Amino acid sequence: MNDLAPNDAAGLPARAAALDLLTAALSGRAGLDEGLSHPALAALSGRDRAFARALVMATLRHLGPIDAALQAKVKKPPPDKVVQILRLGVAQAFVLKTPAHAAVTTSVDLVARDKGLQMFKGLVNAVLRGLLREPQALDDPELLAPGWLYARWRAAFGAEAAHEIAAMVAREPATDLTLKDPDTTGALAADLEAQVLPGGSLRTQRRGDISAWPGFAEGGWWVQDAAAAIPARLLAVQPGQTALDLCAAPGGKTLQLAAAGAQMTALDRSAARLKRVAENLTRTGLAAEAVAADAATWPDKRIFDAVLLDAPCSATGTFRRHPDVLWAAKPSDVAGLAAVQSKLLDAAARRLRPGGRLVYCVCSLEPEEGEGQVAAFLGRTQDIVLDPIGAGEGGAPAASVRPDGTLRILPHHLDGGLDGFYVARFRKG
Ligand SMILES: C[S@@+](CC[C@H](N)C(=O)[O-])C[C@H]1O[C@@H](n2cnc3c(N)ncnc32)[C@H](O)[C@@H]1O
Repeated sequence: MNDLAPNDAAGLPARAAALDLLTAALSGRAGLDEGLSHPALAALSGRDRAFARALVMATLRHLGPIDAALQAKVKKPPPDKVVQILRLGVAQAFVLKTPAHAAVTTSVDLVARDKGLQMFKGLVNAVLRGLLREPQALDDPELLAPGWLYARWRAAFGAEAAHEIAAMVAREPATDLTLKDPDTTGALAADLEAQVLPGGSLRTQRRGDISAWPGFAEGGWWVQDAAAAIPARLLAVQPGQTALDLCAAPGGKTLQLAAAGAQMTALDRSAARLKRVAENLTRTGLAAEAVAADAATWPDKRIFDAVLLDAPCSATGTFRRHPDVLWAAKPSDVAGLAAVQSKLLDAAARRLRPGGRLVYCVCSLEPEEGEGQVAAFLGRTQDIVLDPIGAGEGGAPAASVRPDGTLRILPHHLDGGLDGFYVARFRKG
C-alpha cells in the first residue's frame, strides 16, 4: 500500500476527501458506494482518489481497534471532525504504513484547515505521536465489530464462530464474478487470472476499473459475491419457466435467472434502482419484464413457477465489502426490518403456483431476519413446506447447511471469505 501513500503536501486533498467520505459513511445517510461518488473525489487525480478510498476502507475495517487505541490516549472526546481526523491518522500510520511524519503532519494540517478547530492541532499531534511510539495491533476480532453485534453473533453462532466472523472484518475481499454462460468458465478464468469457486463463480484478485476487464464490455459476467450467487441457483429454473424476482435491484439474481433461460419478471419498489437492472440487462443482452411496485401490494394476479425474495435487511452480512454497515446499523433496525420481511414473505408465497419453488434470502447475520423469519412463516402458512438444501447445492459450503436444510452462510465458511447470508427454499404443495 506504500506506493499509494503520497507523503508530501500533494496528499492533503486526498486526505480531505477521505475525511468527507468517512464522515458520510458513518453518518448512515449514504452507504459507501454512494459516498465513493462524493464530490470531494471528483477533483482528485486517479492516484489520489485510490489513496482516499483505500484510506477510508482501511479505517472502517479497523474502526473498533482504532477507537480503542485512541480512547486510551484521549481523555475528553474532541469534536466529531477531530475524531475522524485522528481515526484516519491512525489508519494511515498502522494499516497503510504511511511514513509516520506524513501521517502526523497531514492530520495536523487537516485540523488547521478548519478555523474553529485550531485549538486541537496540539492534541492531534500529541495523540498521534504518542501512539506511534508503540506498536499498535489493530486486529483483535473482539474489537473489529461493534460490541452489540459481536454479542449477538456469539449468542447465535457460538464464541468460536463469532471470533472467526469478526476476524473477517479486517480482511480485504477479492472480487467475485458470475458468468452469463458456464461454457466460458475456462477462458474467462484464464483471462481474469481467476479461481473457479464451487458453484461456478470466478474469484479474482484484480483491482481497478472493472469495465476494462476482459469480458465486461461483451456482458460475459457481472460482479456478485460468491454467497449472493447461491440463492438464485437453488431455484434450478428450467428454460421457459416463469420466474419472479420480488426485490430485484440492482439485478444480480435477475440476471442469473434470465441467463438460465427463465421468463423473468423483475420487480422492485424503487424505480431509480430498477434503472440499474435495465442497464445490467442491456449490457449482458438478457431480458426481463421490469415492474416498479411494492411487492406486498402489487395488484397483478399472475402466479409463477419460481419466486425469489431477496428481502431488504440489515445487510450485516455484507461487511466485507461495506464495513460501514456494521457501524451504521442500530439494534432497533433489526426488529423493524423483520416486520417488513414477514409481510413480503407472505406476498411471495401468494405468487407461487402449486408445485413451484420459492427461495427466501437475506444478506444478514441476524437470526430474526433468517431462522426466526422462516420458523414464523412455516407456523402461519398451510400449503408451503421447506425444500431442504443439500451440501454443495448451488455452491453452498457444507459448513453452511443447517439440520433443517436451510443455509446459514457465515463469512468464514469459504477460504478467502464470502458474504454472510441466510437462505431457505420452499415448495408449495
Ligand atoms: C437486498 S436488495 C436486492 C438485491 C438484488 N436482489 C440483487 O441481487 O441485486 C433489496 C431490494 O428490495 C427493494 N425493496 C425494499 N422494499 C421493497 C418492497 N416493499 N417491494 C419491492 N421491493 C422492495 C429495495 O429497493 C432493494 O432494491
